[in-house]
Amino acid sequence: MKVISEIREISNTLSRLKSSNNTIGLIPTMGALHKGHISLVEKSIAENDITVVSIFVNPTQFDKQEDLTNYPITIEKDLELLEKSGCDFVFTPKANEIYDNNISSQKFLFDGLEQQMEGKHRAGHFDGVGTIVKKFFLITMPNIAYFGEKDFQQLQIIKKLVELEKLDIKIIGCPIHREEDGLAMSSRNTRLTDQQRKDAPFIYKTLKEAQNKIAKHSFTEINSWVSEQFKKHKTLNLEYFEIAEEDTLKTAIKRENNKKYRAFIAVFADKIRLIDNISL
Ligand code: PAJ
Repeated sequence: MKVISEIREISNTLSRLKSSNNTIGLIPTMGALHKGHISLVEKSIAENDITVVSIFVNPTQFDKQEDLTNYPITIEKDLELLEKSGCDFVFTPKANEIYDNNISSQKFLFDGLEQQMEGKHRAGHFDGVGTIVKKFFLITMPNIAYFGEKDFQQLQIIKKLVELEKLDIKIIGCPIHREEDGLAMSSRNTRLTDQQRKDAPFIYKTLKEAQNKIAKHSFTEINSWVSEQFKKHKTLNLEYFEIAEEDTLKTAIKRENNKKYRAFIAVFADKIRLIDNISL
């Protein structure tokens, strides 16, 4: 496994490999890797000749300085995990080179996908994500890029980005990896106190119960039921719960035939923000 920080070096190395008929799989990450990330890496290894993981804590996608400052960095452990998984290249760019000394976002319109849920609650977040992922795509030119359904809205936005920018890259969505108690794996989980960590599986438990209610209850009834559950909870604060249509991510009021729906949730454990979602 080779670790490369310079843009020119990764870009030349990969374009040489691609021109000798190797397929390239890319997994963009912000590090603090866990089994969820590694499941994406393993899928890429199974499907491509060369697998590249980028590790970069992208400043432009954080709406709160505090969240950026406290983002966990575990680069040595990350490299060990990646080496063990069989990854070929790790791209670890420096902020000044990747942003050309101008740390700011391009503005994007993703057909309204950017205005829903995370877009409403985290100003500028998807401009930051779109900016950095587009840069990674142009630098590495992968055949396939892998994204987790943990960030389902991000996955849909990246599919739209590739379509709008006419990039010849296939985007694959991968299932959410969970802890045994159901909590979706996340780099932010390491910041939870023992009590918060004990409480956090309540998020998935509530999503599962909402999923079970779908046959007998309306979307409005389920929304009210979920807010009630969190009003009663001592440590977890609900930011939003929404049932949305999978393709457009628009809030769904009533079930229609031939449409797929998902429930999305964002919860605060003190200042730590956790998100999850479930197919309905
Ligand atoms: P990060 O949060 O590090 O996640 C990297 C990738 O791993 C994303 O595609 C995310 O959806 C996926 N992932 C995270 N937790 C997962 C889990 N429990 N199960 C399955 N997949 C999981 O998402 C980002 O970084 C950034 O926004 C990025 C795309 C790298 C742009 O900066």
